[in-house]
Amino acid sequence: MKIVRLAFGCAVLAATWAFADARPGADLGAATVAGGAALSRRAATEGIVLLKNDGTLPLNEGDRVAVFDLSGKYRSGGGGSSNVKPVRIVDIPSGLADAGLQVDSQSRETAVLVVGRASAESADAADKAFGLSPKERKTLDEIKAGGFRRIAVVCNCGHAIDLGPLARDPAIGAILWAWFPGGEGGAAIGDILTGKVNPSGRLASTFAGRVEDYPSNAKWRDSLYYVPYEEDVFVGYRYFETIPGAKEKVVYPFGHGLSYTSFSLEVLENLEVLDQLEIKVKVENTGKVAGKRSVLCYTSQKGGAAEHPSIELRAFAKTRLLQPGESEELMLSFEKRDLAYFDDEGTSGHPGAWVLDKGEYTVLVGGSVRDVKKVASFKMEKEVVLSTPGFKLQTDRLARRLRADGSYSETPVVYQGVTGKLKKNGFQDKAVETPTVTLFDVADGRATLDELLDQMTLQELLHLCYGHEKQDKAATGSIGALEKFGISAAQTCDGPAGVRRELPATYFPCAALLACAFDTALVEAIGERIGAEAAEADFDILLAPGLCIHRHPLCGRNFEYFSEDPVVSGRCAASYVRGVQNQGVGATIKHFAANNRETGRRVELNIISERAFREIYLRGFERAIKESAPWAVMSSYNGSNGFNSSVSHGLVTGILREEWGFEGVVMTDWHTSVPMWREIAAGNDVKMPDEHEMTLRANEGLSAAVKAVVVRDVLSVVQIRQSARRVCELVMKTRRFAREKVDFDKRRNAAGH
Ligand code: BGC
Repeated sequence: MKIVRLAFGCAVLAATWAFADARPGADLGAATVAGGAALSRRAATEGIVLLKNDGTLPLNEGDRVAVFDLSGKYRSGGGGSSNVKPVRIVDIPSGLADAGLQVDSQSRETAVLVVGRASAESADAADKAFGLSPKERKTLDEIKAGGFRRIAVVCNCGHAIDLGPLARDPAIGAILWAWFPGGEGGAAIGDILTGKVNPSGRLASTFAGRVEDYPSNAKWRDSLYYVPYEEDVFVGYRYFETIPGAKEKVVYPFGHGLSYTSFSLEVLENLEVLDQLEIKVKVENTGKVAGKRSVLCYTSQKGGAAEHPSIELRAFAKTRLLQPGESEELMLSFEKRDLAYFDDEGTSGHPGAWVLDKGEYTVLVGGSVRDVKKVASFKMEKEVVLSTPGFKLQTDRLARRLRADGSYSETPVVYQGVTGKLKKNGFQDKAVETPTVTLFDVADGRATLDELLDQMTLQELLHLCYGHEKQDKAATGSIGALEKFGISAAQTCDGPAGVRRELPATYFPCAALLACAFDTALVEAIGERIGAEAAEADFDILLAPGLCIHRHPLCGRNFEYFSEDPVVSGRCAASYVRGVQNQGVGATIKHFAANNRETGRRVELNIISERAFREIYLRGFERAIKESAPWAVMSSYNGSNGFNSSVSHGLVTGILREEWGFEGVVMTDWHTSVPMWREIAAGNDVKMPDEHEMTLRANEGLSAAVKAVVVRDVLSVVQIRQSARRVCELVMKTRRFAREKVDFDKRRNAAGH
């Protein structure tokens, strides 16, 4: 037996981008523009999914195509935090022309139909957006009657739609799912349609035929304020593959994706090494053209004490470009503890514990959840308790939860409230004019952070706990900004698809498309590029990546999140964070946690079992935190189980900090509606956005309110100081601080200190 330990997420680093000194407000240089465009295009080609192909594709160079854009507009990305002012946009007709096709509206050779759906934060898509509109159906019928030799459909959508009619229609030869493919998306679509790039994307979420087929839909619009998660852990394919009768509702399953070539998979080795399982798979290109192949590894479990989804993804990997006849060995690995469930019902006799259930475990390898082969199995004779963190997120309001047989059971819970430690500590009553200690001294080891904080008034400590001015109108505000103490204003900017600022930046494909590439090295390379552009534009902290789960197909932010699966989401997010932070820019994973509906996002509270919360909605965050140590986390507007996330002590302190060891800053989402003192008491350090927005609350109400609560012992100065300290630590990591310190040191040396 070979003893090896492999960590998940062994992403390959892309080239490091070298930039000259930061140039605030400067245009991107020509090399940056070219490099960004090439990467954006490559990423789009890797994540676009070929869903159907009867031989219609690939087209030949020189073929004539008539493009029908039913939505009338190419959509590079979604609205809100993912909005980027693009360096350039290559729409679909230009992209097809670029790929060597002749775009000719009179031709009756090949029709390319574009079906588009917009999507943006703060609203969800309407139910009717899920199906084809009457206008789209009419155009489709006209095209079908128009005597075309071939019809291909390109879906340029920010959310899932009903693909059933297109999938079943023999007149439609091919369907490409292109999400929002970024600024170079048209070119990438041209590459795929012509076979310049062989498609290798796979769906990272399940596509069902009707909105009602998704279990989350049952109570999705019942109330503005409460959303009960009655489907429990049965989200996405975990529902469709487990619950009797649900399989038939799927049009395209999780993991589905076609290629222009064929591959064979051969399992060379299964190793159980300590607590890790490793599966070595040989992938060979058995077809006629070069291509890449991703391999997905799942487990299924039978005979346990608890109920489990019938199949769950554990690992994935992707080959390089393989020429016909060429092969590559991939290693898929996961740890046994990844198989654990959170026992919130006491089934194992250990309520509040992570438990490895007893029973028979099967390891399956392949592509989609429906296209797998059993490669190994093992038996656990009895349950193993891995850890007992206890309850931190329980609800007593979830009336019922779904069981694996499709029935519902009532939810027994023992509610345990959480209390914080309330202790007082000092602060200066009067502002010190010239502090004897600055953050520069702390950085040099001449003083401690406590000595720095000791010099501050309560108002100054609180200054560190809300946002301040922004350097660019399109940016999002700064953190820190207490010059007297040498605390720089660390500048933040959105966002997930590229740097959002007044000047152009590279527009990358949305996260949902990146996930379909099943290639963490690619996601890391994109993180690096965005981080480099953020650094070049003199930003310190990027407000990305987004990391919530595709629970409902019409959530307005699904495009900005990776997948319905926590392993895909967590690994992609960790890679993105590593890439950004390689460039000396901090990443902020958001929106912590379970932000799954945009309607009423500031007030909406989920009602969710602690098991589903931890296994589905938090697992990706946990992985990303542990594997990539982001500088910051953004709490979500919405909340769960009675608390908005920013005031949930159980979530922000109990789980994020105490259980997972997160040491960075937690900031709110922009303009939360709950009082700041409650946020600090929960462990949420900074209320965003900028000082201008906060002035009223800060100067008039906030400090008086905080003083009052401090006196009443509801919020302790210890907690305020702890948040202020984390902000100082964050600022010290930035390039801006390093730059300002150089100036400070020069002044200090000149003064002969
Ligand atoms: C969004 C965040 C974003 C922030 C700043 C909020 O509306 O929810 O994701 O980072 O605005 O633009």
